[in-house]
Amino acid sequence: MSGGLLITHIAGLVQVRPVAPGIVAGADMAHLPVINHAWILVKDGRIHSFGSMDTCPDSTGHECIDASGRWVMPTFVDSHTHLVFPTPRSEEFVMKIRGATYAEIAANGGGILNSARKLQGMSEDDLLEVTLPRIKALIASGTGAFEIKSGYGLTVADELKMLRVARRLARHVPVTIRTTLLGAHAIPTGMSKDHYVRLVIEEMIPAAAAEGLADYVDVFCEEGFFSPADTEAIIMAGRRHGLGARIHANQLHHSGGVQVGVKTGAISVDHLEQMGDEEIACLREGNTMPVVLPGAAFFLNLPFPPARRMIESGLPVAIASDYNPGSSPAGTIPMMISLACIRMRLTPEEAINATTINTAHTLGLTQTHGTITVGKEANLLITRKVASLAELPYAYDTPWADTVLLRGVTHN
Ligand code: NIG
Ligand code: FE
Repeated sequence: MSGGLLITHIAGLVQVRPVAPGIVAGADMAHLPVINHAWILVKDGRIHSFGSMDTCPDSTGHECIDASGRWVMPTFVDSHTHLVFPTPRSEEFVMKIRGATYAEIAANGGGILNSARKLQGMSEDDLLEVTLPRIKALIASGTGAFEIKSGYGLTVADELKMLRVARRLARHVPVTIRTTLLGAHAIPTGMSKDHYVRLVIEEMIPAAAAEGLADYVDVFCEEGFFSPADTEAIIMAGRRHGLGARIHANQLHHSGGVQVGVKTGAISVDHLEQMGDEEIACLREGNTMPVVLPGAAFFLNLPFPPARRMIESGLPVAIASDYNPGSSPAGTIPMMISLACIRMRLTPEEAINATTINTAHTLGLTQTHGTITVGKEANLLITRKVASLAELPYAYDTPWADTVLLRGVTHN
């Protein structure tokens, strides 16, 4: 039998699920199964076996890591990013400090349109080159699977260019990447909204689907951007081409995004800064995952989504980074977990469930990611030395990861 990688003396093996659940919801989110003083054996890139140290196999023939004082958990799944973008928008940061709102900057040709102008002038190779260091840094922080959206192209050719870059990334780093066509991110200058929606439906979606470039469609359902009716039409067009749906919903207003997401069976509705009882009740009627993006609420000084209230009403909650140059220029999931704990009063256990099992579900990765389960990919985060799991989100600017293993191989 060929040797494997044996990690021993683990302070706590976290998120151990002999049978991985599809999602965790409500009160179950507080439960995070841990084996204290544990070992785990990785073979052929997969989780082979694990247990407590009193059952540790003989290390002969295996490569060994002594993880004394460290915790081992599945890498995070980030289900909402805009990782492919041209450059940071720090000029808008200063405008925001001086009082301009996200909507005001956008209405003056800044924001998404600013990024689109820059991106349209870049080649696919240049775009790949600026994106690679971003994804590598995020992997080193503990993320092992990503969703990446288009949405800074706003023409058929430029949206496809972004999606090709997102697909190509997976040939450079050993992570799973799911891609989303977010053509309906902003209305390009000089075009009516209805004309652009038709372009998305009649040209962008068919072209992206024909090249196999997208797994999902997304729409920025928001006042001044796209209406619930536009959103529904785009989601249904995506469905006709075999694409799932996720929605930017209820970020700045009670936009109806949640309701259209549930009505159309979208896999997730993301943001949710503006949520009332009606939206929470609506989510309880459907199977759409609420995804909160604490990095965006923090950066834009918006109210944080009522994640605590959602969990207490029995809903599942997922947490993602929304990494992008306009509303969340930070993408490490440990930072998002700290914000969730500090600003939304989630416990570390709830926040870890929200960034592993629940995000994996929204990307169709339940069989391979999100838990310590025999047969899943050995995507493992070995933490730095800490006395408790809670010490990780508590020390909110200290990186969690000592080592990240992707498919059984050390990344950093
Ligand atoms: O998720 N709100 C819409 N889209 C992004 C921001 C994109 C940008 O400003 O570049 C978000 O916050
Ligand atoms: Fe976003």
